[in-house]
Amino acid sequence: MLNIILLGPPGAGKGTQAARLQAERGMIQLSTGDMLREARASGSPVGEKVKAIMDAGGLVSDDIVTALIGERLDSCADCGAIFDGFPRTRAQAKALDSLLSERGRRLDHVIELVVDEDALVARITGRFTCAKCGTGYHDSFRPTKVAGVCDVCGSTEFKRRPDDNEQTVRTRMAEYRAKTEPILPFYEGRGLVRRVNGMGSVDAVAAEIDAILDAIA
Ligand code: AP5
Repeated sequence: MLNIILLGPPGAGKGTQAARLQAERGMIQLSTGDMLREARASGSPVGEKVKAIMDAGGLVSDDIVTALIGERLDSCADCGAIFDGFPRTRAQAKALDSLLSERGRRLDHVIELVVDEDALVARITGRFTCAKCGTGYHDSFRPTKVAGVCDVCGSTEFKRRPDDNEQTVRTRMAEYRAKTEPILPFYEGRGLVRRVNGMGSVDAVAAEIDAILDAIA
């Protein structure tokens, strides 16, 4: 039962690879971004609190995201976990250690998707998802097979994230550099960091990640 972190700036491909691993390996994708978007869509008190922060590209408080992850981690005791977008700060990294050890789990890999930030703006501003089943697409890199129709469920409704505009993306990248990148040494000291070239095709990135996971499976 592998527990892995996918780390990388906005648009690095964390969600794309986490969704694939969930489908192919029966692991659970724990995306704090998705959890926060669900909370804001539900209009819950947490959702109201985080809306403005997310739209500005800032980081939501450590307490909120740690509580969300803790709840979801218990949804499948026997599944490996893919942490997608968490941890993002040193405090979250420490909280994750506690959450895992309390459940008798251990962290196996921290997979850093190494990318060229300038190319990521194009990736993010072209991103859209199916409004019905959530499958992710990109205007240029991953279009639907039939224009305007979801490959998976046939829906013709799609949506784009409000924080996927260039200005907010730049803020999100600055947050990544200032608060998230500095947690890498915390994991490097424990020999957990594996680096993958995130600029390859989706399949090439997948192959690199699979090689890492299969090496100790
Ligand atoms: P979150 O939803 O986590 O966003 P993010 O980290 O900014 O990452 P993205 O979802 O934008 O990118 P990704 O790496 O998943 O890329 P994707 O696979 O979609 O967080 C959103 C907000 O929530 C944050 O700004 C913050 O406010 C808050 N938040 C979340 N977690 C938090 C936490 N722990 N603490 C505090 N606040 C938190 O790929 C992007 C596009 O590129 C897609 O269209 C895809 O099709 C395409 N693509 C993917 N891989 C490739 C490839 N290899 N080649 C070409 N195209 C590709």
